[in-house]
Amino acid sequence: MPNDTGFPSRSLRDDVVHAAVAGLTATRKTLPPWLFYDQEGCRLFYEITELPEYYLTRTEAAILTSQAAQMVPASVRDAALVEFGASSEHKAGYLLGLTDAAGGPLFRFYLPVDVAQAEMLAMQSRLRQSHPYLRVMPVVADFMQPLRLPPIDGARFGFFPGSTIGNLDPDAAIGFLSRAAETLGRDAWLLLGADLRKDPAIVLPAYNDKAGVTAAFNLNLLTRLNRDAASSFDLETFRHEAIWNDADSRIEMHLISMVEQTVRVAGRAIPFRRGETIHTESSYKYRPETLRELASAGGWRQERIWTDPQGWFGIFLFQRM
Ligand code: TRP
Repeated sequence: MPNDTGFPSRSLRDDVVHAAVAGLTATRKTLPPWLFYDQEGCRLFYEITELPEYYLTRTEAAILTSQAAQMVPASVRDAALVEFGASSEHKAGYLLGLTDAAGGPLFRFYLPVDVAQAEMLAMQSRLRQSHPYLRVMPVVADFMQPLRLPPIDGARFGFFPGSTIGNLDPDAAIGFLSRAAETLGRDAWLLLGADLRKDPAIVLPAYNDKAGVTAAFNLNLLTRLNRDAASSFDLETFRHEAIWNDADSRIEMHLISMVEQTVRVAGRAIPFRRGETIHTESSYKYRPETLRELASAGGWRQERIWTDPQGWFGIFLFQRM
């Protein structure tokens, strides 16, 4: 789990307390997005991906369904698919099934990289049934940290779907891309899915749905802190807000205190002004050129891009420079 002390953490709970206190004592309050994903957070996130307003998951899936066969260059054979942030094999499935003209599988190895060890072990046993020739080697790690992959000869093909790149600020995105270039090594490829800049009237409802699932997902952070970081948030006094920040081309999710109050967090008193916000997540919506520049700063050259007919979502293929 994320830990910026430089020492191994004693437990997840210590990391939660540390992250909460650091974020909530800053001048502009923030909480890091990894705190969203406790059990209830994972469940709510899955529900978000099925909402009518949340076009991202189904648009990306439609592009993969129709174009996956074109996405893997002819030189890639017996390769390793390395997926960054992979608690299920669902998206990799579009690529793992690909074969060459003679019917041989393009990928011999699948290396999911995620902190969710139990989920990866479950997917390993499912894949043993469905893809018996495939060697599945889970890498239990935070994909934002420098990684060491098990030694494998053959091409490495990175996969980073879901517009997770958009949840990173540009500097962090470049950091991720350079570390991925380092991890994957020479001649590697990277296939990356990113939500594109478009009319905010389409984007905003995806982060502020009618049924209130995104609001519940955002507020669940406070429930989690009440449980895991000895906190006293009154959920009735905070509300979810999603705003479009046009200058930075991003959605911002906030939790807004509707009253002036003091909240206890792991033995500290955290004061809130009325209307003060906690910034919980950003989701950048890039123009293809901007993403290409970030990738280039991270050591990747763009080869191709596929989009849906409306140009809402892009799947980018990069090769290491
Ligand atoms: N990366 C996706 C996005 O930005 C999924 C996602 C991550 C998300 N955190 C989220 C969606 C929080 C809704 C709310 O949309």
